[in-house]
Amino acid sequence: MATPRMAAAAPALRTLNEFAADVVVGLSHPGQKELPSKYLYDTVGSGLFDVICTLPEYGLSRAGMRMLERYSGEIIDQVPGPVMVAELGSGSGQQTRWVLEALARRQRVNYYPIDISRSALFRCQQELGQMDMVSIVGFERAYLDGLQEVATRRSGGERLLVLFLGSTIGNFDRFAGDQFLREVRTILQKDDALLLTTDLEKPIPTLIFAYDDPAGVTAAFNKNLLARINRELDGDFDLGHFKHVVCYDESERRIEMHLQSTIWQRVTIRKAGFRFYMREGETIWTESSHKYNPAEVAEMGERAGYKCAGQWFDHEWPLAQNLFFAV
Ligand SMILES: C[S@@+](CC[C@H](N)C(=O)[O-])C[C@H]1O[C@@H](n2cnc3c(N)ncnc32)[C@H](O)[C@@H]1O
Repeated sequence: MATPRMAAAAPALRTLNEFAADVVVGLSHPGQKELPSKYLYDTVGSGLFDVICTLPEYGLSRAGMRMLERYSGEIIDQVPGPVMVAELGSGSGQQTRWVLEALARRQRVNYYPIDISRSALFRCQQELGQMDMVSIVGFERAYLDGLQEVATRRSGGERLLVLFLGSTIGNFDRFAGDQFLREVRTILQKDDALLLTTDLEKPIPTLIFAYDDPAGVTAAFNKNLLARINRELDGDFDLGHFKHVVCYDESERRIEMHLQSTIWQRVTIRKAGFRFYMREGETIWTESSHKYNPAEVAEMGERAGYKCAGQWFDHEWPLAQNLFFAV
């Protein structure tokens, strides 16, 4: 059978909202259809992500938490004070508590979580809003827009500590990750700090289980992206005809999450004025999670205008907390 082509005329992208426009572009992509991973996080997606963090197979969050509980004091001692804290993609902020507690032992803390998910920010305020000596102002913004706004709140002599936890950097391709750290650097001043979590390489079966858990929570998280398109853009994706598929690309050293069509099917997304076809077995690529080694993380930071002041490791679930200073 010939490769099915897009049947509907592509809508004029400038008339669509950003979500609809990104969906049309991603699903029209020649060769490999894709959707940006940031759209995984609506209310349902953010809730499911919090459940993923509790799964025995997903050791990443627990390792991050364990390390921050253990090393936050040591990390914060290296960032002399007065310090204000911004967090990129805070989610519900569970790991952040330890960093804020360590800092609050020496000063009053202004904490600015930045996240595109309103429900994640709401959970973050609930989770951390009662801490002594900590005030929270959340920004429902994209990373860099939010950080620009937070930076304008700096008062004289204050240093900015940016947190980018949970190895969310791994969602960027390596080149885009470098570029992103450079863009963050342009918003910072010399001697501002960046605490970056990076998931390290580990046995492939361990990684596959982490992103394809037997209880199917990660599958639900992934499929919710199609459900979100149905809800918000009046799509007609039949979730029963999609399968959550996870693979590890050894040359790129990354986990990839896909949604695979189990039949030949036609999908219409009415609010985007868009219709397309999927072959049986064809996939939509929804998320990447790159894995690192410690030396390349230090080099990545150095290429982007930082010096690496320290790296802390968890050996149960290989993971690094990396502290950088803007130079
Ligand atoms: C993998 S979760 C990590 C959450 C938390 N930092 C943790 O370690 O558990 C990524 C978070 O980043 C947010 N996010 C994704 N893309 C974003 C973007 N472009 N701008 C702002 N937030 C974004 C998501 O809504 C989500 O809460």
